[in-house]
Amino acid sequence: MPTTSTTLNAPAKSVFITGGSKGIGYATAQTLVAEGYQVTITSRNQSEVEEAAQKLSTPQQHVRGVVCDVRQYAELEQAVQDHVAAFGGLDVLFVNAGVGRFAPIQDLSPEDWQAVIDTNLTGAFYTVKAAIPALSQSKGYVITLSSLAGKNPFAGGAAYNASKFGLHGLSEVMMLDLRPLGIKVTQIMPGSVATHFNGHIPNEEDRWKIQPEDIAQMIKDLLKMPARTLPSKIEVRPAQPKGS
Ligand SMILES: NC(=O)c1ccc[n+]([C@@H]2O[C@H](COP(=O)([O-])OP(=O)(O)OC[C@H]3O[C@@H](n4cnc5c(N)ncnc54)[C@H](OP(=O)(O)O)[C@@H]3O)[C@@H](O)[C@H]2O)c1
Repeated sequence: MPTTSTTLNAPAKSVFITGGSKGIGYATAQTLVAEGYQVTITSRNQSEVEEAAQKLSTPQQHVRGVVCDVRQYAELEQAVQDHVAAFGGLDVLFVNAGVGRFAPIQDLSPEDWQAVIDTNLTGAFYTVKAAIPALSQSKGYVITLSSLAGKNPFAGGAAYNASKFGLHGLSEVMMLDLRPLGIKVTQIMPGSVATHFNGHIPNEEDRWKIQPEDIAQMIKDLLKMPARTLPSKIEVRPAQPKGS
C-alpha cells in the first residue's frame, strides 16, 4: 500500500519553497514530505539550507536545499529550472521568504526599507514570474505568505506594512491573472506565528501563538481541495490573544 497521498504509479508532485530553512517554510516542507511531495527549499545561507534539507530528507525522498536569494531574479530562474530538471515539473510554489525591519518612519533607514520591499514584495513577484512557465505546464498552485500586516497598519510598520499591503494586492491580481491559465493562487494572512522571524528565538512564551506546523496543515488541506474550488484568501490568527 502506498503511504502517501499520491496515486499508485503517478509521479510524485513537487513543491518549491522560498525561505524553507526555518519557520513556516521548514514546517511546510516537513508536512509535504510526509504527504509524498518532492521538495526544494531555499534560503540565502548555504550551511543552514543544506542542514535543513538533510534533516528533512528521508530514505525515500531527497529534499533539495538550494541557495537562492529572492531579490535576485536570475537566481530564481536558475533554481526553478533546476527544480524542474530534478523532479520533472513543478506543481506547487510556496512564496514564503520574508524579513521584517520595524522602526518609526523617522528612524527607518533607506537600506532597511529597501531590504524589506525587495524581499517581501519584489521577491514575491520575481518568484512567481520565474515559475509561471512551469506552473502553466502543470496547472499548478501558488501559495503566498502575506500577513494580517497586509491589511492592518501599526506604528513602526512602515516598511513591513507597505510590503505586505503590496503583497496582498499582488496576490489578488495574480489570482485573477493566473486563474484562466488553470493556476490557483491562495494568499495566507497570518497573525503571530512562533518562528525565527526578525531574530526571534521560539520559546515557551510563544505557546499562545500560531505554530508553524498549523500553517503547514492549512497548506496541506488547501492542496486537497477539489480542483473546482479555490479559497483565494485566508486570514488566520491565534485563537486567544496574547495574555488572555
Ligand atoms: N512569524 C510571524 O509571526 C509571521 C506572521 C505573518 C507572516 N509572516 C511571514 O511568514 C513568512 C515566513 O517567515 P517566518 O515567520 O517563518 O520567519 P523565519 O523563521 O525567519 O524564516 C524566514 C525564512 O526566509 C528566508 N529568507 C529571508 N530572506 C530571504 C531571501 N532574500 N531569499 C531567500 N530566503 C530568504 C530565511 O532564510 P535566510 O535568512 O537564511 O535567507 C528563512 O528560511 C515571511 O514572509 C513573514 O513575513 C510571519
